[in-house]
Amino acid sequence: MSTQNEQIIRPARNIAGTLRLRGDKSISHRYAMLGALAAGTTRLQNFSTGADCASTLACVGALGARVNRTESAIEIDGCGGRFRAPDAPLDCGNSGSTMRMLSGVLAGQQFSCELFGDESLSQRPMKRVVEPLERMGAKVETSDGGKPPLRITGGKLKGIEYYTPVASAQVKSLVLFAGLQAEGETIVEEPLRTRDHSELALRAFGAELHRSKNRISILGGQKLKAIEAFVPGDISSAAFFLCAAALFPGSSLVVEAVGLNPTRSALLDVLAAMGLRSSVVTLEEHHGELIGTLKVEAGELKGVSVGGAQSAMLIDELPVLAAIAPFTKGGMEIRDAKELRVKESDRIAAVTENLRSMGAEVNEHEDGWSIPGGQNLHGAEVDSHGDHRIAMAFAVAALRAEGETRIMGANTASISFGEFWDTLNELADQ
Ligand code: S3P
Repeated sequence: MSTQNEQIIRPARNIAGTLRLRGDKSISHRYAMLGALAAGTTRLQNFSTGADCASTLACVGALGARVNRTESAIEIDGCGGRFRAPDAPLDCGNSGSTMRMLSGVLAGQQFSCELFGDESLSQRPMKRVVEPLERMGAKVETSDGGKPPLRITGGKLKGIEYYTPVASAQVKSLVLFAGLQAEGETIVEEPLRTRDHSELALRAFGAELHRSKNRISILGGQKLKAIEAFVPGDISSAAFFLCAAALFPGSSLVVEAVGLNPTRSALLDVLAAMGLRSSVVTLEEHHGELIGTLKVEAGELKGVSVGGAQSAMLIDELPVLAAIAPFTKGGMEIRDAKELRVKESDRIAAVTENLRSMGAEVNEHEDGWSIPGGQNLHGAEVDSHGDHRIAMAFAVAALRAEGETRIMGANTASISFGEFWDTLNELADQ
């Protein structure tokens, strides 16, 4: 079926089965960073198997937190607030979350160190890291144009009030992580609500913080205590199979132990409006995170418009929504998503290029797409652009195309979802 770094996808009849996903990437990063900073041993079950979270574990290991993999969990012996200077620059791989959020932690440490990444990460904007951290008293140097590598010289920080210029959970998080180590109070206000895993994780590790609408405040000098946690299944990984199910009336899928944090589950509302019936059959809360079992059944696929605050909430799911848009009745308009241009690839350009290779009509905008519905696509050779979400989005689109689709650079799916291709094989009736 596949050679080294490509996958061939054939048309499917439907999607059916039960899906149990490895831990959420966003939550895994945060638990690993805060566990490394806390006092005591943090024990994390169902930690993400993605390469991005492995980058975070390697970085916190190099900073002096002992990371131990047991059969059932990842254990992290925290440093009790004080890391040691690493012997070499920290390799963040492909992971923007690692580089940005760890910068906030490092800003409060009494040493200087460098963070670098792969070719894609080396092109991603870091001014959004520099600005708040320098205002708090750290020194952050970048290469020309505000790109990685970053050199961070941490030290004594002071609390600030910061309005994030872009709706970014990573930026909000790094300010909170630095604020935890600063003198006085740090307030961060975001233009639109973004995922709140850092707020929930900080509370789980024993910190107090306050939220009022889009303003969050944290008092510096609080100490974190180790936790035991189960990381909810990654809803952004589930998204590929939910969208795949939506493509075939009659599909039926159960997703077990998946994260249903309301700041992450906007896709369910959008897919409901598009005709996917879903019900939450169990629901529990763990360290503030909602975890549930979801049952979905597909009907006729309608198109909808996505924009404004919803686009920020759905930022990681927009490529796969766009990839299924040509198959909707009525088409889709997706706007206010300019941030997609500075992700692991320019996701707006990559989706346009790949949909067009498959014969689709697509109108590209600076901040999204308008994609007519009722189109028939044909198989083609499409490129992941080294971007995990592009590889997986087009594996989904390919299930409804005529003929075979060849996904080039398919291994990149393992950045967030190591088991993706095997899972697709299991659930797609081809
Ligand atoms: C993430 C936030 C988002 C998202 C990324 C993970 C996080 O990035 O796209 O995949 O875990 O906080 P931005 O903060 O750049 O929007």
